[in-house]
Amino acid sequence: MAHLLFTLLVQALIPVLAQTNPIHVKSCRSYCGNITVDYPFALKPGCGHPGFQDLLFCINDFLMFHISSGSYRVLDIDYAYQSLTLHDPHMSNCDAIVLGNRGNGFVVESSRAAFLNPSPDNAFMLIGCSPGSPLFQGFPGKHLPCRNVSSMGCEEYYGCPAWNVIGPKRVGSVYGTGPPECCSVPFDAIRAINLTKLECQGYSSAYNLAPVRSGGPDEWAYGIRVKYTLFGSEAFCTACEATGGLCGYEIDGVKELCMCGSWNSTSNCDSVHSSSNRQISYLVDTRAGFLISLILWMYYQR
Ligand SMILES: *[C@@H]1O[C@H](CO)[C@@H](O)[C@H](O)[C@H]1NC(C)=O
Ligand SMILES: *[C@@H]1O[C@H](CO)[C@@H](O)[C@H](O)[C@H]1NC(C)=O
Ligand SMILES: *[C@@H]1O[C@H](CO)[C@@H](O)[C@H](O)[C@H]1NC(C)=O
Ligand SMILES: *[C@@H]1O[C@H](CO)[C@@H](O)[C@H](O)[C@H]1NC(C)=O
Repeated sequence: MAHLLFTLLVQALIPVLAQTNPIHVKSCRSYCGNITVDYPFALKPGCGHPGFQDLLFCINDFLMFHISSGSYRVLDIDYAYQSLTLHDPHMSNCDAIVLGNRGNGFVVESSRAAFLNPSPDNAFMLIGCSPGSPLFQGFPGKHLPCRNVSSMGCEEYYGCPAWNVIGPKRVGSVYGTGPPECCSVPFDAIRAINLTKLECQGYSSAYNLAPVRSGGPDEWAYGIRVKYTLFGSEAFCTACEATGGLCGYEIDGVKELCMCGSWNSTSNCDSVHSSSNRQISYLVDTRAGFLISLILWMYYQR
């Protein structure tokens, strides 16, 4: 009799336990190639932070980052330092100069500008810009925005093998007859690396991770280092995850939500609310509590 009762109890408990431990609660995190995509980023609609929706796409195991200036391959996401490292195949580096306005540059939608910005340590080297470029307005006055960024700049970049092929015409700096062939700027100086608008033929981008000065331009890290900002949403997400939820947002893409399995909360999964779904789970909890009491009772009866 006791054995039969125990079997019945186990059969009754299995669905209850399955329901109180929803399997889909781990489903917002994903992987693309060897890159982990986690909060605030996500590859599924409704997951992550609303400021980063429709930003990342996984295509043939390549994680792609899409903004108004184009698509970039994501090489790394550093969650501790809140940054992404991007690669643009049409970007110049130390081995090759790509001209013909083929590069993306970096222009972010105004709605995303608060969340995403190239790091202040990132140097953009603009190459082959026309004398009429907005960069050189006021030239030959002393107001060129060109400057070294994190001890990286064009003077050193000219030392790269890529320049042996075309050879820099250091007109601005050496002869004073025209603007320089290359002008390095931090993103903040111009707020948009739009090669068309700046009338530039190409660009390169390098960043410095080490606090100490890195070696020559052949040792620079080429790519675009982008910082992301959450404005305190980490606290919302931490509280949500601590109570067993998943961080996401409403389909309208504005309000943050904590997804608690059978219901969605605007704070966390422990919060009080009046959803009918939650009442069902209270019933489930009551049932589980009753069954556990019954098992304990049986145990002490023996
Ligand atoms: C870049 O500038 C050009 C010319 O001003 C403009 O037509 C284009 O939309 C801009 N590109 C981006 C991505 O903003
Ligand atoms: C992914 O793998 C590539 C080479 O297979 C490696 O260069 C890169 O550092 C890896 N990225 C991460 C985030 O582990
Ligand atoms: C940038 O640094 C190089 C070498 O360190 C120096 O020769 C050059 O004058 C600097 N350029 C600017 C614009 O400060
Ligand atoms: C909770 O929100 C997510 C994302 O907006 C949605 O896909 C899901 O259906 C919602 N769940 C409930 C129970 O309303």
